[in-house]
Amino acid sequence: MGSQRSKVEVKGFEAKHYDLLMGLLTLGQYNRWIRKAVRDTGAGKGWNVAELGSGTGIAACEFSRLIGEGRYIGLDIGEEMMMKAEKRCRKRSNVEFIKQRIEQPFKLPFQADLFFMSFVMHGLENPDKEKVLENVRKNLQEGGLFGVLDYSQMKYSEAFWLARWIIWKLECPLAGEFAEMGFPGFVESRGFKLLKVNKYFRGMFSLYLFKKV
Ligand SMILES: C[S@@+](CC[C@H](N)C(=O)[O-])C[C@H]1O[C@@H](n2cnc3c(N)ncnc32)[C@H](O)[C@@H]1O
Repeated sequence: MGSQRSKVEVKGFEAKHYDLLMGLLTLGQYNRWIRKAVRDTGAGKGWNVAELGSGTGIAACEFSRLIGEGRYIGLDIGEEMMMKAEKRCRKRSNVEFIKQRIEQPFKLPFQADLFFMSFVMHGLENPDKEKVLENVRKNLQEGGLFGVLDYSQMKYSEAFWLARWIIWKLECPLAGEFAEMGFPGFVESRGFKLLKVNKYFRGMFSLYLFKKV
Protein backbone atom coordinates (compact mmCIF):
# COMPACT_ATOMS: atom_id res chain seq x y z
CA MET A 1 0.00 0.00 0.00
CA GLY A 2 1.50 3.35 -1.07
CA SER A 3 1.62 6.55 0.96
CA GLN A 4 -1.52 8.69 1.36
CA ARG A 5 0.69 11.69 0.51
CA SER A 6 1.59 10.29 -2.92
CA LYS A 7 -0.01 10.54 -6.36
CA VAL A 8 2.24 8.18 -8.32
CA GLU A 9 -0.02 5.13 -8.02
CA VAL A 10 -2.03 6.13 -11.07
CA LYS A 11 -5.52 4.62 -11.39
CA GLY A 12 -9.00 5.24 -12.84
CA PHE A 13 -9.58 8.37 -14.96
CA GLU A 14 -5.95 9.50 -14.71
CA ALA A 15 -4.65 6.09 -15.82
CA LYS A 16 -7.18 5.84 -18.64
CA HIS A 17 -6.12 9.23 -20.06
CA TYR A 18 -2.55 9.37 -18.75
CA ASP A 19 -0.79 10.09 -22.06
CA LEU A 20 -3.32 12.75 -23.02
CA LEU A 21 -3.15 14.48 -19.61
CA MET A 22 0.66 14.52 -19.60
CA GLY A 23 0.62 15.84 -23.17
CA LEU A 24 -1.72 18.69 -22.18
CA LEU A 25 0.31 19.60 -19.09
CA THR A 26 3.56 19.76 -21.06
CA LEU A 27 2.25 21.31 -24.29
CA GLY A 28 2.72 18.02 -26.12
CA GLN A 29 6.35 17.57 -25.03
CA TYR A 30 6.06 14.70 -22.48
CA ASN A 31 6.88 11.73 -24.71
CA ARG A 32 9.69 13.64 -26.40
CA TRP A 33 11.35 14.46 -23.03
CA ILE A 34 11.16 10.89 -21.86
CA ARG A 35 12.62 9.56 -25.10
CA LYS A 36 15.42 12.17 -24.92
CA ALA A 37 16.21 11.23 -21.30
CA VAL A 38 16.30 7.55 -22.30
CA ARG A 39 18.86 8.34 -25.02
CA ASP A 40 20.83 10.49 -22.55
CA THR A 41 21.37 7.45 -20.31
CA GLY A 42 23.74 6.18 -23.02
CA ALA A 43 21.99 2.78 -23.30
CA GLY A 44 23.30 0.81 -26.26
CA LYS A 45 23.14 -2.46 -28.17
CA GLY A 46 22.95 -5.59 -26.04
CA TRP A 47 22.22 -3.80 -22.74
CA ASN A 48 19.85 -5.37 -20.23
CA VAL A 49 17.61 -2.66 -18.82
CA ALA A 50 15.01 -2.57 -16.04
CA GLU A 51 12.55 0.25 -15.48
CA LEU A 52 10.80 0.93 -12.17
CA GLY A 53 7.26 2.25 -12.63
CA SER A 54 7.19 1.72 -16.39
CA GLY A 55 3.78 3.38 -16.82
CA THR A 56 2.35 3.39 -20.33
CA GLY A 57 5.58 2.16 -21.90
CA ILE A 58 6.94 5.37 -23.45
CA ALA A 59 10.51 4.70 -22.28
CA ALA A 60 10.15 0.96 -22.97
CA CYS A 61 9.71 1.48 -26.71
CA GLU A 62 12.71 3.81 -26.91
CA PHE A 63 14.88 1.38 -24.93
CA SER A 64 13.70 -1.49 -27.14
CA ARG A 65 15.02 0.36 -30.20
CA LEU A 66 18.36 1.22 -28.55
CA ILE A 67 19.23 -2.16 -26.98
CA GLY A 68 18.55 -4.45 -29.96
CA GLU A 69 19.35 -7.98 -28.77
CA GLY A 70 19.37 -6.81 -25.14
CA ARG A 71 16.43 -7.25 -22.83
CA TYR A 72 14.10 -4.73 -21.19
CA ILE A 73 11.87 -5.48 -18.18
CA GLY A 74 9.38 -2.91 -16.87
CA LEU A 75 8.01 -3.23 -13.32
CA ASP A 76 4.72 -1.63 -12.37
CA ILE A 77 1.57 -2.28 -10.35
CA GLY A 78 -1.02 -0.19 -12.22
CA GLU A 79 -3.23 -2.54 -14.22
CA GLU A 80 -4.54 0.11 -16.63
CA MET A 81 -1.04 1.55 -17.08
CA MET A 82 0.42 -1.90 -17.75
CA MET A 83 -2.28 -2.73 -20.31
CA LYS A 84 -1.42 0.44 -22.21
CA ALA A 85 2.28 -0.40 -22.07
CA GLU A 86 1.66 -3.96 -23.35
CA LYS A 87 -0.37 -2.53 -26.22
CA ARG A 88 2.20 0.14 -27.09
CA CYS A 89 5.05 -2.42 -27.12
CA ARG A 90 3.17 -5.41 -28.60
CA LYS A 91 5.56 -5.66 -31.56
CA ARG A 92 8.72 -5.43 -29.42
CA SER A 93 10.09 -8.91 -28.73
CA ASN A 94 12.82 -7.64 -26.34
CA VAL A 95 10.32 -6.00 -23.97
CA GLU A 96 8.33 -7.49 -21.09
CA PHE A 97 6.38 -6.12 -18.15
CA ILE A 98 6.09 -7.61 -14.66
CA LYS A 99 3.55 -6.74 -11.98
CA GLN A 100 5.76 -5.97 -8.99
CA ARG A 101 5.89 -3.36 -6.24
CA ILE A 102 9.26 -1.69 -6.61
CA GLU A 103 9.86 -1.17 -2.87
CA GLN A 104 9.36 -4.87 -2.16
CA PRO A 105 12.26 -7.28 -2.71
CA PHE A 106 12.52 -8.78 -6.21
CA LYS A 107 15.06 -10.71 -8.26
CA LEU A 108 15.35 -10.07 -11.99
CA PRO A 109 16.44 -12.80 -14.44
CA PHE A 110 19.55 -10.68 -15.22
CA GLN A 111 21.98 -8.34 -13.47
CA ALA A 112 21.01 -5.13 -15.27
CA ASP A 113 23.38 -2.79 -17.08
CA LEU A 114 20.95 0.04 -16.37
CA PHE A 115 17.97 0.83 -14.15
CA PHE A 116 15.69 3.67 -15.22
CA MET A 117 12.95 5.43 -13.28
CA SER A 118 10.88 8.32 -14.57
CA PHE A 119 8.51 10.46 -12.46
CA VAL A 120 8.11 7.84 -9.74
CA MET A 121 10.89 8.55 -7.21
CA HIS A 122 9.40 11.87 -6.03
CA GLY A 123 6.20 10.08 -4.97
CA LEU A 124 7.87 7.64 -2.56
CA GLU A 125 8.33 8.28 1.16
CA ASN A 126 12.05 8.26 2.10
CA PRO A 127 12.02 4.75 3.70
CA ASP A 128 10.54 3.43 0.41
CA LYS A 129 13.16 5.32 -1.59
CA GLU A 130 15.78 3.47 0.47
CA LYS A 131 14.14 0.10 -0.22
CA VAL A 132 14.07 0.87 -3.95
CA LEU A 133 17.76 1.78 -3.89
CA GLU A 134 18.54 -1.53 -2.15
CA ASN A 135 16.59 -3.42 -4.84
CA VAL A 136 18.43 -1.53 -7.58
CA ARG A 137 21.83 -2.31 -6.06
CA LYS A 138 20.99 -6.02 -5.71
CA ASN A 139 19.88 -6.34 -9.34
CA LEU A 140 22.46 -4.05 -10.95
CA GLN A 141 25.83 -5.34 -12.10
CA GLU A 142 29.04 -3.82 -10.74
CA GLY A 143 29.56 -0.43 -12.35
CA GLY A 144 26.00 -0.49 -13.73
CA LEU A 145 24.00 2.71 -14.20
CA PHE A 146 20.90 4.08 -12.50
CA GLY A 147 19.06 6.90 -14.29
CA VAL A 148 16.33 8.86 -12.49
CA LEU A 149 14.25 11.35 -14.48
CA ASP A 150 12.31 13.56 -12.07
CA TYR A 151 11.95 17.09 -10.73
CA SER A 152 15.12 19.13 -10.44
CA GLN A 153 16.51 20.15 -7.09
CA MET A 154 15.42 23.73 -6.39
CA LYS A 155 14.14 26.00 -3.64
CA TYR A 156 10.50 27.08 -3.82
CA SER A 157 11.44 30.75 -3.56
CA GLU A 158 13.89 30.49 -6.48
CA ALA A 159 11.85 28.29 -8.84
CA PHE A 160 10.18 29.74 -11.92
CA TRP A 161 6.40 30.21 -11.79
CA LEU A 162 5.40 27.05 -13.69
CA ALA A 163 7.62 24.87 -11.48
CA ARG A 164 6.12 26.48 -8.35
CA TRP A 165 2.62 25.84 -9.66
CA ILE A 166 3.16 22.24 -10.75
CA ILE A 167 5.49 20.98 -8.01
CA TRP A 168 4.17 22.81 -4.95
CA LYS A 169 0.51 23.44 -5.84
CA LEU A 170 -0.67 20.77 -8.28
CA GLU A 171 1.48 17.77 -7.31
CA CYS A 172 1.43 15.67 -4.12
CA PRO A 173 3.22 17.11 -1.02
CA LEU A 174 6.04 14.61 -1.58
CA ALA A 175 7.01 16.32 -4.87
CA GLY A 176 7.88 19.60 -3.11
CA GLU A 177 9.85 17.69 -0.48
CA PHE A 178 11.71 15.84 -3.25
CA ALA A 179 12.70 19.08 -5.00
CA GLU A 180 14.33 20.40 -1.82
CA MET A 181 15.76 17.17 -0.32
CA GLY A 182 19.25 17.04 -1.88
CA PHE A 183 18.37 13.90 -3.83
CA PRO A 184 21.82 13.20 -5.38
CA GLY A 185 23.43 13.15 -1.90
CA PHE A 186 20.70 10.81 -0.62
CA VAL A 187 21.50 8.33 -3.40
CA GLU A 188 25.28 8.79 -3.18
CA SER A 189 25.27 7.89 0.52
CA ARG A 190 23.69 4.53 -0.40
CA GLY A 191 26.35 3.09 -2.69
CA PHE A 192 26.14 5.15 -5.89
CA LYS A 193 28.19 7.91 -7.49
CA LEU A 194 26.56 10.76 -9.41
CA LEU A 195 27.99 10.89 -12.95
CA LYS A 196 25.95 13.70 -14.47
CA VAL A 197 22.73 15.73 -14.31
CA ASN A 198 20.98 16.65 -17.57
CA LYS A 199 18.31 19.34 -17.35
CA TYR A 200 15.16 19.72 -19.44
CA PHE A 201 12.38 22.30 -19.80
CA ARG A 202 14.01 25.43 -18.33
CA GLY A 203 15.71 23.26 -15.73
CA MET A 204 12.47 22.01 -14.21
CA PHE A 205 13.23 18.33 -14.81
CA SER A 206 16.53 16.49 -14.43
CA LEU A 207 17.99 13.17 -15.43
CA TYR A 208 20.25 12.14 -12.54
CA LEU A 209 22.64 9.47 -13.78
CA PHE A 210 24.38 7.40 -11.08
CA LYS A 211 26.85 4.54 -11.17
CA LYS A 212 26.91 1.65 -8.69
CA VAL A 213 30.13 1.82 -6.66
C1 LIG B 1 3.55 9.07 -12.58
S1 LIG B 1 3.53 7.50 -13.37
C2 LIG B 1 5.01 7.59 -14.36
C3 LIG B 1 4.98 6.58 -15.46
C4 LIG B 1 6.16 6.61 -16.41
N1 LIG B 1 7.38 6.23 -15.74
C5 LIG B 1 6.28 7.97 -17.03
O1 LIG B 1 7.27 8.67 -16.77
O2 LIG B 1 5.39 8.36 -17.78
C6 LIG B 1 4.00 6.43 -12.05
C7 LIG B 1 3.98 4.95 -12.43
O3 LIG B 1 4.61 4.21 -11.40
C8 LIG B 1 3.76 3.14 -11.00
N2 LIG B 1 3.98 2.94 -9.56
C9 LIG B 1 3.75 3.83 -8.56
N3 LIG B 1 4.12 3.33 -7.39
C10 LIG B 1 4.59 2.08 -7.64
C11 LIG B 1 5.12 1.05 -6.81
N4 LIG B 1 5.24 1.20 -5.49
N5 LIG B 1 5.53 -0.10 -7.41
C12 LIG B 1 5.42 -0.27 -8.75
N6 LIG B 1 4.93 0.67 -9.58
C13 LIG B 1 4.52 1.84 -9.03
C14 LIG B 1 2.35 3.59 -11.34
O4 LIG B 1 1.47 2.51 -11.54
C15 LIG B 1 2.58 4.40 -12.61
O5 LIG B 1 2.53 3.60 -13.75
